Amino acid sequence: MQQNKKIGFLGFGNMASAMAKGLISQNVISPESIFASAKNWEKLCRNTALLGIQACHSNKELAESADIIILAVKPYQVESVISPIREILKNRLVISIVAGYTFEKYDSLFLPGTHHLSTIPNTPIGVAEGILICEEMHSLTAEEIQLFTAIFSPLALLEWVPTKQLSVAGTLSGCGPAFASMFIEALADGAVRAGLPRLMAYQLASQMLVGTGKLQLQTGMHPGAMKDAVCSPGGTTIKGVAKLEEAGFRSAVMEAITAIENSAE
Ligand SMILES: NC(=O)c1ccc[n+]([C@@H]2O[C@H](COP(=O)([O-])OP(=O)(O)OC[C@H]3O[C@@H](n4cnc5c(N)ncnc54)[C@H](OP(=O)(O)O)[C@@H]3O)[C@@H](O)[C@H]2O)c1
Repeated sequence: MQQNKKIGFLGFGNMASAMAKGLISQNVISPESIFASAKNWEKLCRNTALLGIQACHSNKELAESADIIILAVKPYQVESVISPIREILKNRLVISIVAGYTFEKYDSLFLPGTHHLSTIPNTPIGVAEGILICEEMHSLTAEEIQLFTAIFSPLALLEWVPTKQLSVAGTLSGCGPAFASMFIEALADGAVRAGLPRLMAYQLASQMLVGTGKLQLQTGMHPGAMKDAVCSPGGTTIKGVAKLEEAGFRSAVMEAITAIENSAE
C-alpha cells in the first residue's frame, strides 16, 4: 500500500539510492514524495533525476521537506550534519543507517525528545530482497513503528536486535553481499576455466545462491545437512568440499567477520 508520507535521504550515496530504488519499485512511496540532499550538487541532480525524486539544495531544506529523515552519510560526517538542523529533526522521525551509531550515541547528539531509530541495511534492499537490522532500543512511538514497518517490510526482512548485537548483525548482512559477490565471481571463474560462457556462469552462480538461501529459509534445515544432501558417498561434490576445506574456506569466512568486528571496537 502506498504511504502518504514524505521521506528525505540526508546523504544520497550507494545505500540511500538502493533504498530509494526499493521504495519506488515496491510502490511504497511515490518518487515525488522522496527527497535527497548531498554534498556535490551536480552529482545529486544526476542521481535524483535517474529515479525522478526531488533534489534539495541543503540539509535544512531536506529536513523541512520530509516527515521521515534517513540519515545516510558516512559515520565521520554525522555530527557535523546533525548539529545545524537539530531543532527541525526534533519534530521528525529520524532513521539512521550509519554503521556504529547506536541509540545511545545519537541521544547525546539530538535534542531531548527526538524520535530516532538506528538501523543497518544491506544493498539487496534495492531489489526488495534486503535485510534491515533494527536496534531494539529506540524512541519511536508504537504508531511510528507501525509506519516504519509498513514502509520498509516490503523491501527487507526487519530483524530487531539488542544493542550489543547491532554491529555483528549489521556486519553479517551489510558486509555479506561483498563476500557473496566474491563467491559468485570465484564460482564463475572456475566454470569459465572449464569452458562455460561468462554471463551464463554469473547467472547460474547467482541463482544457485538465491535458491540455496531460499531453501534454508523455507525449510529451516541445518546448513550442514543441506551440504550432506548434495554429497553422495565417493561422489563429485565431496571432492569439491574437501578442496574448500583444504583451502580454509569456512575459517576464512569466519575470520572475515571477526576482522570486521575487531576493527569496529
Ligand atoms: N554501502 C553499504 O552497503 C552500507 C551498508 C550498511 C550501512 N551503510 C551505511 O550507510 C552510510 C552511507 O554509506 P554509503 O555506502 O551510501 O556511502 P556513500 O556512497 O559515500 O554516500 C555518502 C553520501 O553522503 C553525502 N554527504 C557527504 N557529506 C555530506 C553533507 N555534509 N551533507 C549531506 N550529505 C553529505 C555524500 O555526498 P557526495 O557524494 O556529494 O559527497 C553521499 O551522497 C554509511 O554511514 C554506512 O555506514 C552502508
